[in-house]
Amino acid sequence: MASDGSGLRRVLLLVCLVLCVATLPRRAGAWGADGHHAACLIAEPLLTPTTWKAVNSLLPERANGSLASLCTWADDIKWMWKYHWTAPLHYIDTPDFLCRYDYDRDCHDQHGQKGFCASGAINNFTSQLTNYELPKASRPLLTKTRASEYNLTEALLFLAHIVGDIHQPLHVGFTSDAGGNTITVHWYRRKTNLHHIWDTEMIVKAEDVYYNKSLSNMVDAIILNITNNWIGEAQLWGECPKGEIACPDTYAAESIKLACQYAYRNATPGSTLADEYFLSRLPIVETRLAQAGVRLAAILNRLFDTKSASQRLASH
Ligand code: ADE
Ligand code: ZN
Ligand code: ZN
Repeated sequence: MASDGSGLRRVLLLVCLVLCVATLPRRAGAWGADGHHAACLIAEPLLTPTTWKAVNSLLPERANGSLASLCTWADDIKWMWKYHWTAPLHYIDTPDFLCRYDYDRDCHDQHGQKGFCASGAINNFTSQLTNYELPKASRPLLTKTRASEYNLTEALLFLAHIVGDIHQPLHVGFTSDAGGNTITVHWYRRKTNLHHIWDTEMIVKAEDVYYNKSLSNMVDAIILNITNNWIGEAQLWGECPKGEIACPDTYAAESIKLACQYAYRNATPGSTLADEYFLSRLPIVETRLAQAGVRLAAILNRLFDTKSASQRLASH
């Protein structure tokens, strides 16, 4: 009897554990893993061979030559004490209902530290990566390059991640609701928050409904769209207005506009968001993933393949 009782307890515990884990909300705070993987997978085939060589030389061995495999690294480590300071680098809070972004006003952390936001981070990590020099077998072992002042592997991983985040409209959201994190809504029959719907739920729903539950199929479809339907615009997405290597202020200004036009619209606290919201907003999600991928590739090509960058400018 005693062993029967403890066996039953164990089974019940297991059932409870499985149910608890299955119903646990996915972590909030960034494009979910699928969003980041998608952006990086879209960028990878757009990198020139020279850029790939540089990116590969910075990737740790565990990446196995895949930038996408480490595109969520910046989310994985932000809970660690050492990296706590990086938490505000994933987003930008703007004044409620203004629907505009201004670097000088908005790019700071909660203590008012200037530059500690997603656009400041993109500028900073891009600038660090300009110090990159391809490792040369012939260089004397003790030559200290300027690059060694920074951890350029981390700079690359932060850059690849935050270019993704800044394209999620609600990562440039209103201050008082933390980019929709505090707006509780129903997504179909489940209770969640508006931010999570944009980070994760719409991508997962699109995979389920249109892409045979496969992120890879969804990425392939977006890449086909870029090359077949959006090619003219897609070439412009990669450009920066003043010839900068990266122009995060442009990406952030677009995001808050889209947040107001699409994400916050008809998504008041307590509302139920379902097919109508999903179908009308999915094109925005897919376009933002495409733009994030194209722009990440353009930034990396400008950083690491100056020849491709100057050819590109000369052709204009
Ligand atoms: N925390 C505060 N504001 C946020 C935002 N816009 N996105 C993600 N996390 C946040
Ligand atoms: Zn993030
Ligand atoms: Zn998020």
